[in-house]
Amino acid sequence: MSSSNTGGPEEPFLRAAGMTKSFGSKVVVDDVTINFFPGKILALLGENGAGKSTLISMICGQYRPDSGSLTVHGKTCTFRSPKDALKAGIGVVYQDFRLVPPFSVVENVVLGTRSRPNRRAAARIEEIAAELGFQVPTHALVQDLVVGQQQQVEIIKLLFRGLDILILDEPTAVLTPQQSSQLFTALRAIADSGKSVVFVSHRLAEVVESADHVTVLRGGRVVADQPAHGLNKSDLALLMVGDGIATTTRAARNRPVGHSVLRLKNASTAGQGRDVLNGASLELHAGEVVGVAGVSGNGQRPLADVVAGIVPLTSGTRETQEERIAYIPEDRLGTGLVGSMTIAQNLQMRDYRSEKSGNPWWINPKTLLAQAEPLIEEFHIPAAASIKVSALSGGGQQRVIVAREVRDEPRILVASQPTRGLDVVSSTAVREHLLDIADKQGAVLVISEDLDELLEVCDRILVMVGGEVVAEVPRKEATRLSLGLLMVGSPDGEASQ
Ligand SMILES: Nc1ncnc2c1ncn2[C@@H]1O[C@H](COP(=O)(O)OP(=O)(O)OP(=O)(O)O)[C@@H](O)[C@H]1O
Ligand SMILES: [Mg+2]
Repeated sequence: MSSSNTGGPEEPFLRAAGMTKSFGSKVVVDDVTINFFPGKILALLGENGAGKSTLISMICGQYRPDSGSLTVHGKTCTFRSPKDALKAGIGVVYQDFRLVPPFSVVENVVLGTRSRPNRRAAARIEEIAAELGFQVPTHALVQDLVVGQQQQVEIIKLLFRGLDILILDEPTAVLTPQQSSQLFTALRAIADSGKSVVFVSHRLAEVVESADHVTVLRGGRVVADQPAHGLNKSDLALLMVGDGIATTTRAARNRPVGHSVLRLKNASTAGQGRDVLNGASLELHAGEVVGVAGVSGNGQRPLADVVAGIVPLTSGTRETQEERIAYIPEDRLGTGLVGSMTIAQNLQMRDYRSEKSGNPWWINPKTLLAQAEPLIEEFHIPAAASIKVSALSGGGQQRVIVAREVRDEPRILVASQPTRGLDVVSSTAVREHLLDIADKQGAVLVISEDLDELLEVCDRILVMVGGEVVAEVPRKEATRLSLGLLMVGSPDGEASQ
């Protein structure tokens, strides 16, 4: 509906030409040329490790390119730091937000500008928020905001500075589907005001829906650079991976469902706010994949922690005889991995939640590396065992967690957002691993924001509202719509309003 108002060829706001960057002997971004146009939304696509984040880091002054040039508004620029890029009108919303949690929204927004956190600043923030349909309480502390609102603060922060180019690295990875569509409405409004918007995403549906133009990287090189119009999801998947790679999961089989392996009855957890368990009940059986759907913050996270056995109950019961319980947590760098340790060490920290595991520091380093090799190969972890996890791309880190948790054929696997940040091929591979565990009579609990993912792998799907399991639907009867309605609490399937 909304495209930019001028018809003829336009000057890009920014042109990055011949950008190249290596880490050690590995060329990660290889002679990439890319343009950001005013009034347009550009999607930057590519498999995990394709070089997207590295390219962005060079454009915003975080990394120095080995070679290549940046032209902004027709002028050649060299950025020594992100500050220089900001001055030139380029701002980035990173996936791990850079806000100061104990500061208020106004304080965060004016930080680093000449403005003071006064009424004028607050009024300007409210004005920007209103234009984008954001609801951000200007005087609330950032730490009290939900993730979606924190992201809105990041965006407002950049617009407050009057930037022309907004780059968002996987902005929807942390959002629910509803929050994502709200974000894209806002991004369209920003583009329509004449700015240039660039985003990275692995969710091809939203790319098809929202982007004007797509640039695809493969192995650090541009393999496609074209208008988005007319492209569908499978076109994009094919551009990203090249030919001949499976991007759909094999159909879930009819497995015999075995005995009960874990039972939660009226389970409640401590804590403030909505995100607690409040009398949740469920039962898992050997050989089945059970999904959990829900609007985020309705108890999914504590449910995963409780089933995995790392958070105690305040009331209710948890019964299980199983000891081999694996957990892919939602938050990969918070509870999943230690960035400053190597891939080999992280792979060894099998039972990081209890003391009984082998402490990686006490294992002969050579043994540690040798043990990591087969996993690195099987799970396509794109680096050597001795590399620190912090040097992996987002998807590379997720693969390390999955490899560690899945490899010993756990009896129960709790998988929270298991494919978050993974490209199509890796997502397919992870779903296959979940099905394999069930085929071997393990029980799998999958918590996902992605309803299509749940519909693809689960035998039955539970719906959580307010810390309780309020519904259970066999996969054959579940649809996106029926689940969506249950998630917002209309059990009769009547859409309210
Ligand atoms: N600081 C670093 N040191 C060494 N290698 C790095 C460093 N940062 C990135 N790499 C490597 O560069 C490659 C590209 O990484 P990058 O983060 O740009 O990928 P990406 O396209 O953003 O992937 P993802 O979709 O998984 O986020 C990866 O192989 C990664 O391991
Ligand atoms: Mg990345």
